[in-house]
Amino acid sequence: MKIEDLNVLFSEEQIQNRIAEVGKELNNLYKGEEVIAISVLKGAVMFTADLIKHLNMPVKLEFIRLSSYEGGTVTSGKVNAVDIKLPDLNEKNVLIIEDIVDTGLTAQFLINFINMNFHVKSLKFCSLLDKKTTRKVDVKPDYYCFDVGDQFVVGYGLDYDQLYRNLPYIAG
Ligand code: IMP
Ligand code: MG
Repeated sequence: MKIEDLNVLFSEEQIQNRIAEVGKELNNLYKGEEVIAISVLKGAVMFTADLIKHLNMPVKLEFIRLSSYEGGTVTSGKVNAVDIKLPDLNEKNVLIIEDIVDTGLTAQFLINFINMNFHVKSLKFCSLLDKKTTRKVDVKPDYYCFDVGDQFVVGYGLDYDQLYRNLPYIAG
């Protein structure tokens, strides 16, 4: 993958406009109730930072680190919990913030992990991107910004071999 071969799929402006819309939807959902946002490192870091600026309720921010890729463009099929230390989430509104739902294995793992360990008040999954055509398990984000097709995308947090996370746009 070379940067000069990439096409911009979503510009910085498109991303920011859409995030503001999703932020409003979340404000309507939570109606001022406290939310624990759980951001999945490293890919969701930019999305998280921009999204939570739009939220008007009390927000507590946690980070966890998972990985399913081993350096390539194809998921290894198993999710590794690199760092998943979380506070007590019992009776909390929990919002998971991810970069992309691809096979759905990561989303399913996280949702199961939280439901097995806590009795939450609510659990919602918000993803920057939804890659619907490559889904292997029946899971979908409650909120997402953009659909992408079956192609590998980078930028705005998403990497190829740890590179390109710093691009302010999404390319593929
Ligand atoms: P899933 O478990 O297959 O749904 O994949 C989730 C993770 O795979 C995401 O959190 C991303 O880190 C990574 N991923 C999936 N598709 C892409 C892509 O097109 N570009 C970069 N990372 C991706
Ligand atoms: Mg990720």
